[in-house]
Amino acid sequence: MSDFYQKILENNRKWVASKLALDPHFFTKLKDTQKPPLLWIGCSDSRVPANEVIGALPGEVFVHRNIANMVIHSDMNMLSVLDYAVNILKVKHIIVCGHYGCGGIKAAMGNTSVGIIDNWIRHIKDSYRFRKHDIEAIEDEKERFDRFVEWNTKQQVLNLSVSSIVQQAWCKGQELSIHGWVYRIDTGLVKDLEITFSSHENIRNNSIYKLDFEYAV
Ligand code: CO
Repeated sequence: MSDFYQKILENNRKWVASKLALDPHFFTKLKDTQKPPLLWIGCSDSRVPANEVIGALPGEVFVHRNIANMVIHSDMNMLSVLDYAVNILKVKHIIVCGHYGCGGIKAAMGNTSVGIIDNWIRHIKDSYRFRKHDIEAIEDEKERFDRFVEWNTKQQVLNLSVSSIVQQAWCKGQELSIHGWVYRIDTGLVKDLEITFSSHENIRNNSIYKLDFEYAV
């Protein structure tokens, strides 16, 4: 067995001991239920760990991560997490957190095939296409990359806002705010993109994405 593998098992024992030293009920009080106020949708990147970034303890954040923190409306994995978070756990906030230097975004901005992931990052290329003119007008390569990371994150917040699950929650009057953040790996700080939506009124009446829930529920 590798040293690393042994080390992580040992780390677990040490972590448990350190938590119990501060609070003997730390784990037992979590066993029956969870009531996290937040759903985090982030990138799978190992450098952007949801709990650590926001100082959340076990029980405080429900987490979904995939490559480039995408909200794809036909992704059953994302939809199942979102439905459970909104309709069962009744989270009050959802944060889509992108990060500067995202490899998925970088790959989507180029033409090199990177394998099966081409089909996942195709969704990022679709959001690139919406913004192609603005993105390609930015001359500095790093600046262009950073701005597109932000735009892609905003696009995922918009995708979330028009999802059937979020729209229905808002129509029922449920308290739910969705936000977009971008994390900077080399500082540890997040930037709030100030794209927060809290109600169905954020979706224009003439939007083709707007859903009416007039049928009997
Ligand atoms: Co990433």
